[in-house]
Amino acid sequence: MRVDLLQLFVILLLGGGGSAVSSDCKSYDERSKSAGKSLPSDRKVVCSNMELHQVLPPDSFPNRTVTLILSNNKIQELKNGSFIGLSTLERLDLRSNMISRIEPGAFLGLPALKRLDLSNNRIGCLNVDIFKGLTSLVKLNLSGNMFSSLSQGTFDSLVSLKALDFQTPYLLCDCNLLWLLRWIKDRNIAVKDTMCSYPRSLQGQLITSIKPELLTCDAPLELPSFQLTPSQRQVVFQGDSLPFQCQASFVAEDMQVLWYQDGRMVEPDAAQGIFIEKSMVQNCSLIASALTISNIQPGSTGNWECRVRTSRGNTTRTVHIVVLESSAKMNQCLLCKWF
Ligand SMILES: *[C@@H]1O[C@H](CO)[C@@H](O)[C@H](O)[C@H]1NC(C)=O
Ligand SMILES: *[C@@H]1O[C@H](CO)[C@@H](O)[C@H](O)[C@H]1NC(C)=O
Ligand SMILES: *[C@@H]1O[C@H](CO)[C@@H](O)[C@H](O)[C@H]1NC(C)=O
Ligand SMILES: *[C@@H]1O[C@H](CO)[C@@H](O)[C@H](O)[C@H]1NC(C)=O
Ligand SMILES: *[C@@H]1O[C@H](CO)[C@@H](O)[C@H](O)[C@H]1NC(C)=O
Repeated sequence: MRVDLLQLFVILLLGGGGSAVSSDCKSYDERSKSAGKSLPSDRKVVCSNMELHQVLPPDSFPNRTVTLILSNNKIQELKNGSFIGLSTLERLDLRSNMISRIEPGAFLGLPALKRLDLSNNRIGCLNVDIFKGLTSLVKLNLSGNMFSSLSQGTFDSLVSLKALDFQTPYLLCDCNLLWLLRWIKDRNIAVKDTMCSYPRSLQGQLITSIKPELLTCDAPLELPSFQLTPSQRQVVFQGDSLPFQCQASFVAEDMQVLWYQDGRMVEPDAAQGIFIEKSMVQNCSLIASALTISNIQPGSTGNWECRVRTSRGNTTRTVHIVVLESSAKMNQCLLCKWF
């Protein structure tokens, strides 16, 4: 294979700083296995391990680029039209980046693209608009991302798709994936190596081998991820501020995160210095809530609980808090040893 170093002087915005550096991608002749099909001018461009924080502008690649490898960089976002102009591109490898956000239309202008690898990123949100324009796509790899489910119709624009991989450590095999199982069967899509991660009863089973009647939402709720911080018993002093964070996989539209102390629901109360902030984490896969007690009093001693409520049941995480009266503060170091 003839290797000539193509001079791609590109401006990379390095995280936060904004200092400009130039960098080279490598460009090769692309020799396709089916000889005769590829033109001598077909190019493969490799920009791996270059610490890229964003996709290079499409016009920085040579004419007739058919393969573009952008794996092992630090790309976090794919903007609308990121690849417009690469009309001959057949293979795009974005594996092992930090992509968490993909704008609708990110892959517009790639009418010839056959293989797209998005594996080992942080994608939580996927929808039909993201894949718009990929009418020739045959192979899609979504393994190793953050999502626990995929919503109906996500792949509707991929009319040529033949192979799909979507194994994730959070993949929850329940009634919400029934559509996908049916679609895979109807379209005769090859699904290799995609196993359920949750519920535990289906862990490690190939999704394609599961009987549809086992994909239910009747079983007790099992969350692929559910964390309360602090997670360990805490000793705090009267007057201190105590922040709690609770974060759970977002697996049902009706999910709520609620706070309890010793079984009683805790409501926001500014006068008492109790603040509650709810949020849907950007990437669709997590729901979070933060509780802060800004001026903690001895009455706050007890079991504090983050409860995730859905129509499918509840699950909780609890932490024990002990509040010491401020007169004890003088003996802080002595007391520290006791707790
Ligand atoms: C790439 O293609 C465009 C339009 O077909 C042409 O104008 C341009 O000269 C080509 N660039 C190179 C480097 O061949
Ligand atoms: C994406 O960009 C294209 C052209 O730049 C525009 O026509 C289209 O409306 C945009 N789509 C979205 C969803 O923003
Ligand atoms: C999809 O990507 C994962 C992780 O990069 C890899 O292990 C797997 O083999 C890929 N699947 C296919 C069908 O290439
Ligand atoms: C998505 O969630 C992961 C895990 O908490 C986090 O690392 C990532 O920054 C999140 N992305 C966005 C856009 O919020
Ligand atoms: C879930 O919690 C709510 C209160 O937050 C309670 O009314 C309901 O009975 C609980 N459901 C289950 C199944 O425990």
